[in-house]
Amino acid sequence: MMLTIAHVLGPDQLAEVRALLAAAGDDWVDGHVTAGYQGAPVKHNQQIAEGSDVAARARFIVLAALERNPAFISGALPRQVYPPMFNRYHAGMAFGPHVDGSIRLHPQTGAKLRTDISATLFLNEPGDYDGGELQIMDSYGLHTVKLAAGDMVLYPATSLHQVTPVTRGTRLACFFWIESLIRDDARRSLVHDLDGAIQRLNQTGADRAARDTLVGCYHNLLRQWGET
Ligand code: NI
Repeated sequence: MMLTIAHVLGPDQLAEVRALLAAAGDDWVDGHVTAGYQGAPVKHNQQIAEGSDVAARARFIVLAALERNPAFISGALPRQVYPPMFNRYHAGMAFGPHVDGSIRLHPQTGAKLRTDISATLFLNEPGDYDGGELQIMDSYGLHTVKLAAGDMVLYPATSLHQVTPVTRGTRLACFFWIESLIRDDARRSLVHDLDGAIQRLNQTGADRAARDTLVGCYHNLLRQWGET
């Protein structure tokens, strides 16, 4: 399931994150520092050093926004969120086709995190750069994603994906991974659809007993499939 969530960051938060990144200076490092053996040869970008003060401050803003975003909670069913990271692609930079590493170590706690979902949160406007599209390949073909500043896409971390070369300007984004309570994408998608339908029925004041049954199904599926 690919899920786009609009307005994860508002104008004030975007301005704050962009100001932090613009003043980051030497905290911008070569993106190879966190690339695995498959990604390293095709990864040409820069990212904020994970342990830097800038990363901590920008990350705090993003995590706070995610925690109060019901669409994110419903779609990702997060069990653990890898601390968000920040990257940029100047003209000539790209990240060729790769699959994200399956297990990552949490940089602060050392805990293992299984990457079920990959997330990209766009931090500047599509008109600020040419190219720099996120392309995700799955069994339904190729999906090209280039969103407005503040919008985010979630996609299965199992997918082959790439960032096409930037040919003008700079692409600025936040990226991270989620270990979900439901590992399997098809099951997670089904539970998400059920949640969405229940929300809509709640708004229309539909038959109460039927809604209660559906809510029961939602929780019992989560009980069947969820890992805590
Ligand atoms: Ni990737």
